[in-house]
Amino acid sequence: MNLFDLQGKVAIVTGGNSGIGLGMARGLADAGATVVIAARNQDKSEGVVQALLATGAEASAVRTDVTSEADISAMVSHAKSQHGRVDILVNNAGINIRKRPEDMTADEWRAVLDTNVTSAFLASKAVYHEMKANGGGKILNNGSMASIFGLPFAPAYGASKGGIVQLTKSLAVAWAPDNIQVNAFLPGWIDTPLTQNARTEVSGLHERILDRTPAGRWGDIDDFAGVAVFLASTASDFVTGVALPIDGGYSTAGG
Ligand code: NAI
Repeated sequence: MNLFDLQGKVAIVTGGNSGIGLGMARGLADAGATVVIAARNQDKSEGVVQALLATGAEASAVRTDVTSEADISAMVSHAKSQHGRVDILVNNAGINIRKRPEDMTADEWRAVLDTNVTSAFLASKAVYHEMKANGGGKILNNGSMASIFGLPFAPAYGASKGGIVQLTKSLAVAWAPDNIQVNAFLPGWIDTPLTQNARTEVSGLHERILDRTPAGRWGDIDDFAGVAVFLASTASDFVTGVALPIDGGYSTAGG
């Protein structure tokens, strides 16, 4: 038995047309899963689907704004009608609004919380009955170093990513009897469109990250392929409720 084989499994990846979500979608497809790319830019998602299909994988795209409960419901219906089931959900979509707390508006706060954590709650709830009926499932929630550390320019982001960890624990405990494992992964500093602005706008950030990361490099989206496969496969069947740093040692180093 190959513990990492995902043949016959159907995975939804929110925000799967870019960055870390794309890295995870590729990993899951490589391990045999059918992948549904659920993101807002349908043209971009279709491009990813074509690339996955070209490798021999099964994949499709559904236009999804994760801040819309109706879109989340349609996303799950799409996976079921197109591919017959849902076994794996990756709650990856996320945004940051870089502002100090004293400058952040309530609308900006709500936009970040809605996108990063309320979406994960709603999508997890939307797949629960399907996973339970299938005899189990896997939910992966994208956290951050901001799940652990305070960042002066990210009050809403930090609250949302701290919330992801606690949401993960609640879902894990609630649904363990249904054989649904729910885990969070906490990326360190990863080279994606999300961080590219920060690298240019925040003076010295690039060097500080390199200096502080024992692995001596920024993470790459390919670093997330194996993480996705492990947390989505039977290899992790007795792992639930954890928050796993994927950070080249950033959160372990003394500073
Ligand atoms: P990215 O910008 O490449 O990917 C974000 C994805 O989320 C995009 O596909 C975007 O379209 C999607 N998205 C945003 N709002 C959405 C919405 N309302 N509905 C549907 N999709 C939406 O950036 P990256 O870095 O890959 O971010 C992915 C996740 O990784 C986020 O949750 C982010 O917080 C997290 N993360 C990233 C880190 C990094 O260093 N890049 C570090 C820690 C966490």
